Amino acid sequence: MKKVILTGDRPTGNLHLGHLVGSLQSRVELQLSHEQYIMVADVQALTDYFGNPEKVMASILEVVADYIAVGIDPTLTTIFIQSQIPALTELTTYYMNMVSISRLERNPTVKAEIAQKEFGESVPTGFFCYPISQAADITAFKTELVPVGEDQLPMIELSNEIVRKFNRLYNTNCLKESKAHLSKVGRLVGIDGKAKASKSLNNAIFLSDSAELIKQKVYSMFTDPGHINVSDPGKIEGNVVFTYLDAFCKEKDEIASLKNQYTKGGLGDTTLKSLLNDILQKLLRPIREKRESISSQELMEICFSGTQKARSVAQKTLVEVKDAMGINFFDKKSCCSSFF
Ligand code: TRP
Repeated sequence: MKKVILTGDRPTGNLHLGHLVGSLQSRVELQLSHEQYIMVADVQALTDYFGNPEKVMASILEVVADYIAVGIDPTLTTIFIQSQIPALTELTTYYMNMVSISRLERNPTVKAEIAQKEFGESVPTGFFCYPISQAADITAFKTELVPVGEDQLPMIELSNEIVRKFNRLYNTNCLKESKAHLSKVGRLVGIDGKAKASKSLNNAIFLSDSAELIKQKVYSMFTDPGHINVSDPGKIEGNVVFTYLDAFCKEKDEIASLKNQYTKGGLGDTTLKSLLNDILQKLLRPIREKRESISSQELMEICFSGTQKARSVAQKTLVEVKDAMGINFFDKKSCCSSFF
């Protein structure tokens, strides 16, 4: 039996190079050895974008197009849409009874997000509870491994707490604990060098960017502001071009010698940017072409069949959960079967 693995992305824009090295490449490998589910987390995206559901809706097929373009194979991976699985919402409702407000307040990721969003006293309940909804996502599929970045560890911890509490309380083992599968690659910095590459900061190279746009972004990358003349010695640290070369150039010896030359002086930024541009163009061209070759009809079919499968798996878990709690009201009363 293959181990079950589940990940998700919030559909709030197209995916970029940070996603490629941080999660997409490993998903392409993991689908060969695991039973993989990838969830388009539109319900979770709405906890942030409730004022702009159009943006979330418009991003769903873009994200799925990115998945297919990088090599996620819908015959190996189940791709599904969170909002179309009612069992997830039902599980969330029951799990809410097992988590105290103070427990949620201690979640460091949520805490940081609340501060960053400047909610003040008006934290929306839906946002505050999204870790519980995430526990529903994880447990509904009997997930064993959750490939995520470090910021998601508190979510997995909470999910496991809910599992233990539920199983103990209702004397069952229908829910399974899961483990994080931490990504080896750290977050990719944005082209401005200021923060991580992000959709909202507009400092990322997207998988769907045109050749021209990629070039423009590479040539505008932050390097070393003190490196003015080619002959000046330059700094590697904080130099985005080198960060990207480290992430995307396979010739490690070549990078080492370029770094050496750059530090001594005599290597221009334009030479480096031209090299990086060539590498990224080569990497992204087949992805972009594959992306453009898929019709939205095909994408819809992929989402539909993945969602159908996910729905039946999650529904089965929901029935087990309700059985364990003894709340499958009509199912218990066979006299009512003529009702349906
Ligand atoms: N919180 C995740 C993110 O922001 C997305 C997500 C939602 C998720 N549900 C999940 C990830 C379940 C793993 C498992 O990236």
